[in-house]
Amino acid sequence: MRAELRRHEHLYYVLDAPEISDTAYDALMNELKQLEAAHPELLTPDSPTQRVGGKPAEGFRKVAHSRPMLSLDNVYSAEELAAWEARCRELAGPLPVEYMAELKMDGLSVALRFEPTTDGGSKLTTGITRGDGQTGEDVTSNIRTIRSVPLTIPAEKLKAASLPPAFEVRGEAVMPEAAFLRLNEERESEGLAPAVNPRNAAAGTLRTLEPSIVANRRLDFYAYFLLVEGEYWPQGQRTTLDTLAALGFRVNAHRKLVASVDEMTRFIDAAEAARSTLGYEIDGVVFKVDAHSTQQRLGYTGRAPRWAIAYKFTAKSGITQVNAITVQVGRTGKLTPVAELTPVFIGGTTVSRATLHNADFIERLGLKLGDTVKVERGGDVIPKVVEVIEDAEHPRGAFYFTFPTECPECHSAVVRAEGEVDFRCVNADCPAKLRESLLHFASRGVMNIEGLGEAVVQQLLERGLVHSVADLYSLKKEDLIALDRFAEKSTDALLEEIELSKKAGLARVLMGLGIRFVGERTAELLAEEFGSIDALRAATAEELERVEEVGPRISQAICEFFAQPANQALIETLIADGVEMTAEKKQRSTQLAGMMFVLTGTLPTLTRDEAKARIEAAGGKTASSVSKKTSYVVAGEEAGSKLDKARELKLPVLDEAGLLALLAGAPATQ
Ligand code: IVH
Repeated sequence: MRAELRRHEHLYYVLDAPEISDTAYDALMNELKQLEAAHPELLTPDSPTQRVGGKPAEGFRKVAHSRPMLSLDNVYSAEELAAWEARCRELAGPLPVEYMAELKMDGLSVALRFEPTTDGGSKLTTGITRGDGQTGEDVTSNIRTIRSVPLTIPAEKLKAASLPPAFEVRGEAVMPEAAFLRLNEERESEGLAPAVNPRNAAAGTLRTLEPSIVANRRLDFYAYFLLVEGEYWPQGQRTTLDTLAALGFRVNAHRKLVASVDEMTRFIDAAEAARSTLGYEIDGVVFKVDAHSTQQRLGYTGRAPRWAIAYKFTAKSGITQVNAITVQVGRTGKLTPVAELTPVFIGGTTVSRATLHNADFIERLGLKLGDTVKVERGGDVIPKVVEVIEDAEHPRGAFYFTFPTECPECHSAVVRAEGEVDFRCVNADCPAKLRESLLHFASRGVMNIEGLGEAVVQQLLERGLVHSVADLYSLKKEDLIALDRFAEKSTDALLEEIELSKKAGLARVLMGLGIRFVGERTAELLAEEFGSIDALRAATAEELERVEEVGPRISQAICEFFAQPANQALIETLIADGVEMTAEKKQRSTQLAGMMFVLTGTLPTLTRDEAKARIEAAGGKTASSVSKKTSYVVAGEEAGSKLDKARELKLPVLDEAGLLALLAGAPATQ
């Protein structure tokens, strides 16, 4: 079953070509989970059920690289590239030189160590960040959560590739665009500053101490090097990539063997054209001499191989004028200034607006109305104003922009809270807030009411048909059919969507209510913990803070939300409308409640941290020294004085299988 599940994981996560539906996959996975629960002695850390690994308690261990992880030299133009290629040919001798063209993915490089298993296959043992190139950090439990990294490789595949069972794979860990956007939405709704770019977000994620958070972020890994005994695999780069793919790794499909600068330029053009549709960021193209013997001849400079080069894309930018600055009001009342630009064509699209973030950002730019600015569109879609152009050809604008002291929509006062950069409209009934709240409530990922977009919401507001999100549930057929571009069919479809949304569940409703700092993840954790809106709204700050990731700031925001009579009334109306506000409560495991464990020695499959995490998840505690209070000592290989002490005190001693059995609910056998 594990092999079957691994095959489906590979089809789904690496090849993007699933053979079975998600439901069928989940069913298989559940069956395996049940089997493992019934036979805990058979559970191993490389099982597909174990992707959400253990918990490294303290920091990350430093690990020396088997061979330095070097960097790449960069070129920025076709001329520089041609010069590099000519030099390669010159140094390579009489043979023709071929190059492997690859995409330069914008993530961070990591090294994955695989070691032999007893059945002649290989398993992932260590995942290491690049660090300073000589020494990196052991982030194995986080790497395990990346679905496109195979945790084991069967003997037959190694044999087919003529590869020994101990080897190292190097490649790029990246955060896909979709995961990045989701992360930032979440951060924003939780009042946190957004991550700057997917690379930083990926780096931060890999250094997170909680693997379940990492699992949730959906990183990806693209393999590009294979090393055996600290040496590049001698078969050349093209075969290396093909072999990695055959072993089950994700290898970027955009790759090509090229033999001239002409072909290289064509590959670069194709990469630039595909760039916006890849779903992950790239910042250039890498060319690597294919033949290993030629690579060796070319050798290395201090920081980079001479046999490889990065051709970097330059950020696409345009010069244009700021004609006006408008201010948008968001659902929380936050005011965001936006530069209205003379339309300019940048990298394939026309840009006429760019966000200016907040008042401080405008001040830092020194921006005046009428200024000429440089606008950049990087790998990301949202254009940004990066600088004001100050030269003789571009006269400066005349006036500084004064940030409005009143809301542009309802003219109420705006305030900036102590320590915050944003101004907010104080009016709870601001029509802009209502409009944005409705759009947020209906959006995908929240109540998911398809068809309730901007145009419809605007009309509903103008006709006075809705005054709060609850009013959506009292809309009648005759209300909708009277709207512009609404006919019988579209009316029925929207009513049906609204009806369906009643079943979205507590977490979605919590997100929909727009409680400050409560984003997707927090909403889910709260829903799991409390199970119903009644339990949640009765909770004290202290009880709220028992939920993972909820600190005083979030608990206070939740309490303040429920303290407002208007919010309570809204919830009552939603309940009366039939909106379900329950969730499946997470069963807190109490199996090992009151028990104290001491771990000693090396366990056969679980790391110390994983064992500790499992004990704690089941309600048990762990201690570092044996005493009369110890319930069990879990001993592995090379257990030392702690085991002696346990024997002396006649305490029960378990091996790993015994611990797993106990966790699975079986009575302990020593
Ligand atoms: S080869 C010793 N191939 O770019 C050779 N690197 O600027 C170094 N990168 O540190 C790695 N895609 O993080 C290589 N196809 C690719 C790559 C790639 C992205 C990153 C990698 C490296 C950085 C150098």
